[in-house]
Amino acid sequence: MESTGAQVIHGGAIAGAGPGVLSGGAVMIEAGRIQWVGPESDLPSEFKALPRHHLDGRLLTPAFIDCHTHIIFGGNRAREFELRLQGASYEEVARAGGGIVSTVSATRALDEAGLIAQALPRLDAILAEGVSCIEVKSGYGLDVETELRMLRAARALQGLRPVRVRTTYLGAHAVPPEYRARADAYIDEVCIPTLRAAHAEGLVDAVDGFCEGIAFDTKQIRRIFDVASELGLPVKLHAEQLSHQGGTALAARSGALSVDHVEYATEDDARLMAASGSVAVLLPGAFYAIRETQAPPVAAFRKHGVPMALATDCNPGSSPLHSLLLAMNMGCTLFRLTPQEALRGVTEHAARALGLTDTGRIAAGLRADLAIWNVETPAELSYRFGINPLHQRIFGGI
Ligand code: NIG
Ligand code: FE
Repeated sequence: MESTGAQVIHGGAIAGAGPGVLSGGAVMIEAGRIQWVGPESDLPSEFKALPRHHLDGRLLTPAFIDCHTHIIFGGNRAREFELRLQGASYEEVARAGGGIVSTVSATRALDEAGLIAQALPRLDAILAEGVSCIEVKSGYGLDVETELRMLRAARALQGLRPVRVRTTYLGAHAVPPEYRARADAYIDEVCIPTLRAAHAEGLVDAVDGFCEGIAFDTKQIRRIFDVASELGLPVKLHAEQLSHQGGTALAARSGALSVDHVEYATEDDARLMAASGSVAVLLPGAFYAIRETQAPPVAAFRKHGVPMALATDCNPGSSPLHSLLLAMNMGCTLFRLTPQEALRGVTEHAARALGLTDTGRIAAGLRADLAIWNVETPAELSYRFGINPLHQRIFGGI
């Protein structure tokens, strides 16, 4: 499939075109968009003579979207992994000056080309599993220049690979060493001015923060959200990952696109998220890697109709995970999502977590970002792990 010309994909099952699986489905794509989808028996006669792409019984889905990553960073934290294996908790490592702050020094040391060079193998691993769109956060610079450099490097990735990149400003990720115990001064002097500068350069699609005992409290996050709202930027938040701090309620009340991690969120939080339409982005890679034991309140999310997404959270500390398929398997095994929820979590709901309405489903008018899998049913995508069943990815019709 190498042209943007009109063609019909048919001869297999389609998931992501509606609530169930459409067996014997067909999709017509042209000029990078989906023009028609339905049972092959209903294919309009004007499409019948178009070039055909036969699925040979394979499954067609929307291409995947990794809606929460931190793939731009320097160095690695294998030493921290060893410390955790000896019994130190993620929080203890962070409080002792390791954690996010140790990645900050390694990130500050790299120029834009260096950041890109280190990110490309991570990106390639993620794209190899049928991903067409990835969110990338800043947050390992924590000074004006490095935060801007991270965002520029993230945006540059889409010129180097066939991928769509959404960039999220995460200046409120940690307090850098030079502002130790002066978090408010960091927000006033660095975090907010950098947000304004990044926005002026057109580098920000959304604004994020880390609301946690080892990071920022709700008052501090609110000040950043106020600036985001003044600039017309959507917000999202890392909240209730290690403890309940009230970040979810703040984010929901601010109309957040998503609230991420949410292991310690409550049923009241779920109610607020349902009311604001915020997506719960579940990150089982972080849950697994830091040996968390409290699972997110999936039953409450289901009960109140909170859409759930899944993402890798690919980062050097809490989640060195480069596989969205494994995140799906973990979402099912560790959080008891159904395989159908997992698939929606990396397609439709992941798009929603990024505020994207032109991708994540197979429907007329949406981008022709599709994935063809060597499987027969959607459940197989979550069931196996350590094997990549991708047959082909189609990005913008190509
Ligand atoms: O999503 N929770 C905060 N931020 C990242 C971890 C970043 C790191 O440990 O370097 C996360 O888990
Ligand atoms: Fe994260």
